[in-house]
Amino acid sequence: MRNRQIVMTTRPIGVPKVEDFSMVTENVPEIGDQMVLVGAQYLSVDPYMRGRMRDRPSYAPPFALNTVVPAAGVGVVRQSKHPGFSEGDVVLGPLGWQEAALIEGAHLQRIDPAWAPISTALGVLGMPGLTAYVGMIHVAEVQLGQTVVVSAAAGAVGLVACQVGKILGARVIGIAGSEAKTQALVNEFGVDGAINYRTDDVDDSLGRLCPEGVDVYFDNVGGVITDILFEHLSVHARVAVCGQISGYNLETTRQMPDMLWRLVSHRIRVEGFLVGDFADQRQEALLRLSHWYHDGKLISREHIVDGLERLPEAFLGLFSGENIGKQLVRV
Ligand SMILES: NC(=O)c1ccc[n+]([C@@H]2O[C@H](COP(=O)([O-])OP(=O)(O)OC[C@H]3O[C@@H](n4cnc5c(N)ncnc54)[C@H](OP(=O)(O)O)[C@@H]3O)[C@@H](O)[C@H]2O)c1
Repeated sequence: MRNRQIVMTTRPIGVPKVEDFSMVTENVPEIGDQMVLVGAQYLSVDPYMRGRMRDRPSYAPPFALNTVVPAAGVGVVRQSKHPGFSEGDVVLGPLGWQEAALIEGAHLQRIDPAWAPISTALGVLGMPGLTAYVGMIHVAEVQLGQTVVVSAAAGAVGLVACQVGKILGARVIGIAGSEAKTQALVNEFGVDGAINYRTDDVDDSLGRLCPEGVDVYFDNVGGVITDILFEHLSVHARVAVCGQISGYNLETTRQMPDMLWRLVSHRIRVEGFLVGDFADQRQEALLRLSHWYHDGKLISREHIVDGLERLPEAFLGLFSGENIGKQLVRV
């Protein structure tokens, strides 16, 4: 059987280009013991992948050139030599950017399509949802009545973080990069205020929307937005540092402005986290997210493009802000 794959042919420098990737066609190898052949339905593009495109040490090893780009996906079992899976099962796993993945069954999880649309296993009920949940609940420890600001608020993690904040009884302000996003945040996702960082004065807007200061900042972006935000943090504020997407395509490291004194004067706690460190909380978090989803308190939003060949374009879109909600590619 032939299998189309997207491989990285050049390590991107600065902002990635579609030319850094190509499509190749390979034969799917013979299925071995304990292996499962999965036909991809939805494949994920995620900002963390940019870091793994660099050949330098980080918390995860770099991607290899000219091999299928590793990524999470949801698909249907076509053939199984693992006792836990049968043909037709819907599964979540590290499928990679390809049409068909031959994977050890131990790396797959079965998804119940009757529970929620299967794509949500990559979005609100998957890694981004879990990230928002652990960041808001276990890292920031958001409390009733607090003022919470979320950056990249209209993205996969950000939208869930905003909604979890509302569920916890916080006042939530979202920062995002377009009018469509700020409108959606307020009108569809119930946040209390939204700032368009491309057109609004972020400093003035924060002063107006958070006159008593910011108790919790859920940071997805870093950079200038975060520099300004720090000047609005209240005494005993908490910052959950989830990501720093504004810096992922920079080739030089940025000098942080001198914000350490504010941490002292305002007794602020700043904590970075990785969702993978919260494996113990995973089941409970998924259960609560699922209940909120079924109760209508947690809305899923996905930005889906069609076609395996559009994976690089969809990935690039994360850096120009094309997506509202979870960016996915339907194969
Ligand atoms: N710690 C963890 O375990 C963990 C897990 C998952 C994700 N993350 C991090 O969480 C963040 C969000 O990830 P996601 O998967 O939910 O992606 P996402 O928010 O769905 O997509 C990225 C968004 O970032 C915004 N953005 C891009 N470049 C920007 C810039 N220079 N300045 C400000 N905003 C920018 C864009 O929205 P705008 O239109 O608003 O600019 C874009 O839509 C990323 O930093 C990611 O690395 C961390």
